[in-house]
Amino acid sequence: MPASTLFPWLLLLTVVSLAAADGGDADGSTVTGQIRPLSRLNVGGTAITPGADSGGFYRTWDNDAPYIFGAAFGVTFEKDSNVSIQYNPPSVPPYAAPEGVYATARSMGPVAQINLSYNLTWILPVDAGFYYLLRFHFCEIQYPITKVNQRSFFIYINNQTAQEQMDVIVWSGGIGRAVYTDYLIVTAVDSGQTDLWVALHPDLSSKPEYYDAILNGLEVFKLHKYGFNTLAGPNPPIPPKKINTVDGSRPESRKKSVVYAAVGGVAAGCLLAVLVACLFAYAIRGRRRKAEADQPADGLFGPTKSSTHFDPVQK
Ligand SMILES: *[C@@H]1O[C@H](CO)[C@@H](O)[C@H](O)[C@H]1NC(C)=O
Ligand SMILES: *[C@@H]1O[C@H](CO)[C@@H](O)[C@H](O)[C@H]1NC(C)=O
Ligand SMILES: *[C@@H]1O[C@H](CO)[C@@H](O)[C@H](O)[C@H]1NC(C)=O
Ligand SMILES: *[C@@H]1O[C@H](CO)[C@@H](O)[C@H](O)[C@H]1NC(C)=O
Repeated sequence: MPASTLFPWLLLLTVVSLAAADGGDADGSTVTGQIRPLSRLNVGGTAITPGADSGGFYRTWDNDAPYIFGAAFGVTFEKDSNVSIQYNPPSVPPYAAPEGVYATARSMGPVAQINLSYNLTWILPVDAGFYYLLRFHFCEIQYPITKVNQRSFFIYINNQTAQEQMDVIVWSGGIGRAVYTDYLIVTAVDSGQTDLWVALHPDLSSKPEYYDAILNGLEVFKLHKYGFNTLAGPNPPIPPKKINTVDGSRPESRKKSVVYAAVGGVAAGCLLAVLVACLFAYAIRGRRRKAEADQPADGLFGPTKSSTHFDPVQK
């Protein structure tokens, strides 16, 4: 891999490890008035104040409802009283997210036909042309979901499949066990604001017992600007409830926003490991691209489960 290709990834690695080290937001921003970093959502739960964060990180976790698209809010719920949240260090350490994040969730709704008729969708306003790391926190917290293939779903990012057959019990190892997965996305190459679309939908391909999806927490880390070696751009504002679906980016590049499914917290929770895996995935992808043209590449890289989907914006 040429150094010019390697460099952004190394920088990205540095930025993320710094962000992880101080527990702050990857864009290093300050909270002023209406403008604040869009970073952490306690899906299906109430806001968590810095003092209540885990690991002494002083992060703020916001309620996710303002980011939900349309009228389809699904249902929110909290853990059964006899379920206790269990972490799985070192891959899922307690500082990954406080118990309050894992102890609440949002899922699709009580009726199968309705569950199948919509995507549970969040819209997150971000700056175009940046890499973003999306971290999905999952935990099954209610009986009777204790077994494999009871609930299986798709994760879509920007209308592309980032994950099929997401089964939290498979990834976490059981009810009450916390897990997270990371995806790296490059938004369309452009400037100004754009929307990140995150959506869940039941995946019936394995004939799961329920037609449902679940999410407990979502973090968005703003990383490196695509094609440039600087971190720049204003911070994403709090979303207005009215969603603007026109972002002005070129249609051909929009379709090609990139999703890298980076890692499951199952195998390795460390951000550095994630990004090293990305680096390998990217390198291998680059090599394969020559041979396989547009085929998505999947593979195992070291201890991290890693796969890449979709082609970069620029070929
Ligand atoms: C926990 O409570 C639920 C009902 O709320 C019950 O179905 C389940 O069997 C209980 N589990 C254990 C291990 O006690
Ligand atoms: C996703 O699809 C919807 C329509 O189904 C469209 O309005 C929206 O702009 C798309 N989002 C992205 C990021 O492509
Ligand atoms: C959910 O989103 C995916 C990806 O954008 C799309 O292909 C699918 O048609 C959507 N399903 C529904 C029911 O809206
Ligand atoms: C639809 O989703 C709800 C929870 O969101 C779940 O309780 C229900 O079982 C699902 N419906 C079916 C038929 O799986």
